[in-house]
Amino acid sequence: MQVKLTPRLEKIASLVKKDSKVADIGTDHGYIPLFLLQNNISSFAIASDVNKKPLESAENNIKIYGYNEKIQTRLGGGLTTLKAGEVDTIIIAGMGGLLIADILEASPEILNTAKTFILQPMQAQEELRKYVVQKGFSIKKDLLVKEDHRIYEVMVIEKGIQTVVDEIYYLIGFHIKDNPIPLVEEFIQRKLMTYDKIIQDVKGQKTESATEKYQMAVSRLSKLKEVLLWLKK
Ligand SMILES: C[S@@+](CC[C@H](N)C(=O)[O-])C[C@H]1O[C@@H](n2cnc3c(N)ncnc32)[C@H](O)[C@@H]1O
Repeated sequence: MQVKLTPRLEKIASLVKKDSKVADIGTDHGYIPLFLLQNNISSFAIASDVNKKPLESAENNIKIYGYNEKIQTRLGGGLTTLKAGEVDTIIIAGMGGLLIADILEASPEILNTAKTFILQPMQAQEELRKYVVQKGFSIKKDLLVKEDHRIYEVMVIEKGIQTVVDEIYYLIGFHIKDNPIPLVEEFIQRKLMTYDKIIQDVKGQKTESATEKYQMAVSRLSKLKEVLLWLKK
């Protein structure tokens, strides 16, 4: 029986290099480690979660698929369940960007010894990019994937210097052109709608915070329209 991943999880798994030793933090169902083992991408994986119930669900699936020997399960918060050097690739997916940044910040030893991190924040993607760049990481891949009606952002980071030619890349990702153009256009159009709504919401309000929001949204709208033109070139 083969594990069938959703498009979001499939994209994450596709970014794992062959023969990697992987930890999946916040594993829940454990499908990513299972898929990696079943497809001979990894020979060893750790499925870790801070909550008992999701970890039990992973343990159950691991048992059903018969991978008890090759996938270890760990109960605990963030990267605290790992020892330095145990894995080279760490996946943290399906959580908020600020929580992912907190998890990375809390375990400097693991942050500085694992080679590759595959991150898939559900919100605060911009803040997470700023955090990892400021921590001395380079964003090697920054991909979009659509599942149902939502567009998810998945990034691969490794130690290195990230050149930032424009702050807008923190918002749209550093490798936007590596994605299919129709998907990128939809992604940018959605952001345009968000900033358009902010402008409508604060229009006419005279407070300092409303003025700041208005100016930020106007400047972002103009930048994003520039990005759309640049994409079509
Ligand atoms: C929405 S699920 C995502 C599951 C899976 N990674 C995915 O992308 O489909 C979030 C999981 O992260 C776990 N989690 C939340 N905070 C965590 C933390 N600080 N450390 C480890 N796991 C955490 C939750 O218990 C839950 O199982």
